[in-house]
Amino acid sequence: MMVGGGSETRTLSRRRQTPSRLVRMRRSQPSLIAISSSTNIYQVGEIPGFCFHVRQQWQQQNIANGKGLKLGFYKKTCPAAEYIVKTTTAKYISRAPSLAAALLRMHFHDCFVRGCDGSVLLNSTTNNQAEKDGPPNLSLRGFQVIDAAKTALEAACPGVVSCADILALVARDAIEQIKGPVWLVPLGRRDGNISKASDSLTLPPPFASITQLKTIFASKGLSVKDLVVLSGGHTLGISHCSTIATRLYNFTGKGDTDPSLDPNYVTQLKRKCKPNDTTTLIEMDPGSSKSFDDDYYTIVLKRRGLFQSDAALLNDNSTSAYVKLQAQSHGSTFFKDFQASMVKMGQIGVLTGKAGEIRKQCALIN
Ligand code: HEM
Repeated sequence: MMVGGGSETRTLSRRRQTPSRLVRMRRSQPSLIAISSSTNIYQVGEIPGFCFHVRQQWQQQNIANGKGLKLGFYKKTCPAAEYIVKTTTAKYISRAPSLAAALLRMHFHDCFVRGCDGSVLLNSTTNNQAEKDGPPNLSLRGFQVIDAAKTALEAACPGVVSCADILALVARDAIEQIKGPVWLVPLGRRDGNISKASDSLTLPPPFASITQLKTIFASKGLSVKDLVVLSGGHTLGISHCSTIATRLYNFTGKGDTDPSLDPNYVTQLKRKCKPNDTTTLIEMDPGSSKSFDDDYYTIVLKRRGLFQSDAALLNDNSTSAYVKLQAQSHGSTFFKDFQASMVKMGQIGVLTGKAGEIRKQCALIN
């Protein structure tokens, strides 16, 4: 599925729009997201000031990604739903902007394990260790934002808005709040009842090769372009020193360093991250880890991507071409591409219709 392109595309990115131009767009034109080679056109409701028509085609016919979702899904059942989520998110992000990174990552981790079904939000029980307690998820942050939005929504319209939808909206609103790209969030996801810590090990690890990354993304119905675009999420946020310890201190078991990492950067990183340090945090985009920009691609091109999975994007012709293009054009298409790939990611393996449930509390099955 390719989103964008063509004369009818209007990007929701605010980055290159002046405020007055944005206002003009909102008042005068319907905003469209065009998805090429469309097979379906459906009416998709309204976000204040916008009317959207979305055309969709599923490239991966074998995955029911996004089936049954639509924009404005809660228009009749809970008209204030999106407003409630937006204001709750704004309250938290304005106080702690670094949570935007955490919430984006949480949405990614939800979608890549059993689909975007809120399974990452469930607590472990005596008989079950949940995803949340699986190794890659131990560093997730920001659950309090989801819980606050859920509490406000249950007060306004009990039993209507799913936790999976809340997470998808919160991730979008958090990134909007820090002036990043804004994407559409078709809604109607339902909450899953299964959450297993062992499933979290299917998330791509930071030492993944380009072949492994491509395979994992393809298994979710995402393309190689989605891989390189969504990896750009690493323009935000922090990592633990322990995640890169092997790269710095013991790459092949001989006390060596990953040769794909810029040696000058290795020196800087070793100053911050001592061997066996499990607590220190480092920025993935040093100096601007709370702002959503196109720095990630410049960093990767300079061989300063923090993880092997970032560096791996230089090991494939098409991903490396994309890295170079964005690095050399100041991210000319990055925001637009990110919007499109986030729409796709948010539709992975969703439960809709009568499947799953609408949880009363996001951490507990009803
Ligand atoms: C392509 C495969 C990916 C791998 C291997 C990967 C791996 C990681 C790892 C290991 C961390 C840091 C963990 C720590 O030490 O605390 C991290 C953080 C992060 N990741 Fe990824 N990631 C990938 C894709 C993505 C995607 C698709 C997104 C979003 C679209 C994303 C967004 C983030 C963000 C925002 C953070 C920082 C979180 C924070 O500040 O709390 N990542 N990622």
